Amino acid sequence: MEDLNFRKGDAKTAIFGSETMLQSSPVDRIPDGPTTPEIAYQMVKDETYAQTQPRLNLATFVTTYMDDYATKLMNEAISINYIDETEYPRVAVMNAKCINIIANLWNTPEKNKWKTGALAIGSSEACMLGGVAAWLRWREKRLAAGKPVDKPNFVISAGYQVVWEKFAQLWQVEMRQVPLTLEKTTLDPEAALKMCDENTICIVPIMGVTWTGLNDDVEALNKELDAYNMKTGYDIPIHVDAASGGFILPFLKPEHKWDFRLKWVLSISTSGHKFGLVYPGLGWVVWKDQTYLPKSMSFSVNYLGANITQVGLNFSRPAAQILGQYYQFIRLGFQGYKEIQHNCMEITQYLHREIGKMAPFINYSHEVVNPLFIWYLKPEYAKKAKWTLYDLQDKLKQSGWMVPAYTLPNNIQEYVVMRIVARQGFSRDMADMLLNDIKEAVAELEKLEYPTPTRIAQDKNFEVKGSVFTHTGTPHKKK
Ligand SMILES: Cc1ncc(COP(=O)(O)O)c(C=O)c1O
Repeated sequence: MEDLNFRKGDAKTAIFGSETMLQSSPVDRIPDGPTTPEIAYQMVKDETYAQTQPRLNLATFVTTYMDDYATKLMNEAISINYIDETEYPRVAVMNAKCINIIANLWNTPEKNKWKTGALAIGSSEACMLGGVAAWLRWREKRLAAGKPVDKPNFVISAGYQVVWEKFAQLWQVEMRQVPLTLEKTTLDPEAALKMCDENTICIVPIMGVTWTGLNDDVEALNKELDAYNMKTGYDIPIHVDAASGGFILPFLKPEHKWDFRLKWVLSISTSGHKFGLVYPGLGWVVWKDQTYLPKSMSFSVNYLGANITQVGLNFSRPAAQILGQYYQFIRLGFQGYKEIQHNCMEITQYLHREIGKMAPFINYSHEVVNPLFIWYLKPEYAKKAKWTLYDLQDKLKQSGWMVPAYTLPNNIQEYVVMRIVARQGFSRDMADMLLNDIKEAVAELEKLEYPTPTRIAQDKNFEVKGSVFTHTGTPHKKK
């Protein structure tokens, strides 16, 4: 006779026949007892079941596709803590090799065998490290000259990513924003220099502005800054936030000067988990030479089996991403990266052309310089439209796509735009499916008899702010 009196949650219980699957998942308290791994797995998996497919998410910049071998390698390394260098010395060496490869992609002039850089959890940590190094260098020089150090500032365009707001808040460094306008869509070097003074720790141009996909002109900035530093006697440096562009430009536009070839570029940060083609979280920061990395940023501990010196905000951190990055370098090589980035650009340009042909839309810029672009509703179309891009975002979500609508930064915040980032894993075929879904969604929205709630809210918003609104979100300021 079979024993039917088994414990609840016993391995013999079918997952969906178990008592646990009749309970809601824990929210506040740890459950009293254990359950089987199969049931626990199912419950956790099911919590994320209804989410968007990652490859249909065109909002994110972060890698959602790696091949099977990369995935296997990273899974096998999932238990490795990077900080345990004595236990995993080869991982530390691999990390240093990745830094060397990236530094050389960015044309480092550093002669040392091991280039000066650091691993980070993403661009945010990498930007922080670049910013902190600039602040400490400025501080050390000021203190040596007996000058006050209580009012540091840095200069960046209003198209900054939120990490720079965090840097400003957390380190209490004033952020001076160069406004963007419809005519001046990237950092204006002249305007940037007007904001500089003896307390400026650095200027931060962005390669791959999060909001627009455009690149700041680092070469022009460097030129103007050179003259400015000469005239004033300051030595304000540049940190380039190349979160996206850092892995695009070296492959697609190697002749374009934005990196260590420029005199005042002393540090650059990027995301390994964006166009570095590695799953999250991985960032990199590289300095032009070890002299630009303040010694006070290196911390040593002696309790892990050797004296370990590290630059970074985190201590423990996953190492699997380093294996993933090194694998991609070996697997793809320069040519492989170039081909993937080329395809992302081709698909972006294709979408840019096709979206530009659709009656309701106008592209924000003629150029596509990174695999992302934005567009908005044509003013004349929008005057009659009963919908906004937020409604289109909702409609596309119904077919699984995540195509975000949002307002542009300060000064041009009345523009509602839509953005697509094309990453590895987004094919031409998928682009055609998306275009089709956009056309169908627009056709449905055009049949609306009454304005949608977002249309009404958007119009009200402009009324309140004193703009004579058109239905686009395109501002026409009252004269
Ligand atoms: C220009 C820029 N800087 C910094 C970041 C922050 O990057 P991460 O998400 O890797 O921390 C981003 C992210 O989109 C970005 O676009």
